[in-house]
Amino acid sequence: MKTYLVTGGAGFIGSNYIHYMFRKYGGDIRILNVDKLTYAGNLENLADIENRENYRFYRADICDADAMRAIFAENDIDRVVHFAAESHVDRSILDPGVFVKTNVLGTLNVLNAARGAWEGADGSYPDGKKFLHVSTDEVYGSLEKEGEYFYETTPYDPHSPYSASKASSDFLVKSYMDTYHFPANITNCSNNYGPYQFPEKLIPLMINNALQGKKLPVYGDGKNVRDWLYVEDHCKGIDLVQEKGRLFETYNIGGHNEKQNIEIVKIIIRTLREMLPEGDPRKDHLTEDLITYVTDRKGHDRRYAIAPDKISAEVGWYPETCFEEGIRKTIAWYFANPEWMARVTSGAYQKYYEEMYSGR
Ligand code: NAD
Ligand code: TYD
Repeated sequence: MKTYLVTGGAGFIGSNYIHYMFRKYGGDIRILNVDKLTYAGNLENLADIENRENYRFYRADICDADAMRAIFAENDIDRVVHFAAESHVDRSILDPGVFVKTNVLGTLNVLNAARGAWEGADGSYPDGKKFLHVSTDEVYGSLEKEGEYFYETTPYDPHSPYSASKASSDFLVKSYMDTYHFPANITNCSNNYGPYQFPEKLIPLMINNALQGKKLPVYGDGKNVRDWLYVEDHCKGIDLVQEKGRLFETYNIGGHNEKQNIEIVKIIIRTLREMLPEGDPRKDHLTEDLITYVTDRKGHDRRYAIAPDKISAEVGWYPETCFEEGIRKTIAWYFANPEWMARVTSGAYQKYYEEMYSGR
């Protein structure tokens, strides 16, 4: 039975990944989840699996080298899937320091703990030990010309403190592969959406605001393009890369689903109207009049778009959920979980929202 160490498993993608892996492998794997539970980490996301025998949660900071070493000493870990990070661009503009700490130094600690546990005296690694570093397409910078795509060979050109910290962590992982022959892969994925996403990111923020009849704040001219992928397709890609990909390689993950932000916001308004039952009073205010253009994000990247040729050719990955279906599934999840939204938007979120949007 393989043992997985998942970092950041209480966050958006990490919790979807843990669900995906238990659905796929059931009792045939063990998952250890290490998470500090920052504002973005929420154990409620995992409430239905917390009592499984083959699951264990450790509350720990990946920056704590002793804690990371202890987890490796206690367990014979075969796979690491490293999600833990500070993940929101706007927050990185307000406070870059914590991004460098968690994303760069934290990644270094996880690498050191894995290397310390796995590397033999002769510098070799036992078969089957694999580390997967989950990264973003934002490391490649902004595409300015239509028809251009991010390939694995595209030079890094990060602009935000978030993407700079992720680029640094990618380079650390690359350096461990090149220097120590450390058995790893890097995946660079486009924007994800789906259940359990914290409402600081575009899609859940717009769903939440629209349902409450609040303004929908679109940055700049609303024509920035992101390449949206349903989170389960990302989880499938991570698993396929770890099972079938070539070690030491980078794989881009994205499903050719480019949309301008303003299109996304209009789709959300339309879909909410279609999905709310007849007579629901929230329908009355749900119109495009809610859209409000606000001051642009500093250093706002114009367009991201992934070319997934390598992952599809080498491991047979393809996205299964088209955007129309994915957005309906996402909205259905938020409809079914109003208490989740109410809890994560109470307290600290209110303060963040005030700070982020009041001056715009
Ligand atoms: P998230 O912010 O929802 O979750 C991050 C998780 O990491 C949280 O559970 C948080 O508590 C935990 N964490 C943060 N700091 C920690 C620390 N010091 N020690 C231990 N745990 C800590 O993020 P997400 O959207 O799920 O993203 C997960 C990973 O995927 C990140 O590495 C991100 O860069 C990458 N990624 C995200 C997207 C996206 O669209 N969201 C796209 C591509 C790649
Ligand atoms: P976001 O979800 O923060 O992801 P990222 O910045 O990592 O791509 O933002 C997606 C796009 O939506 C980005 O171009 C910024 C824009 N955006 C808004 O227009 N309004 C908002 O309130 C937010 C959160 C984002």
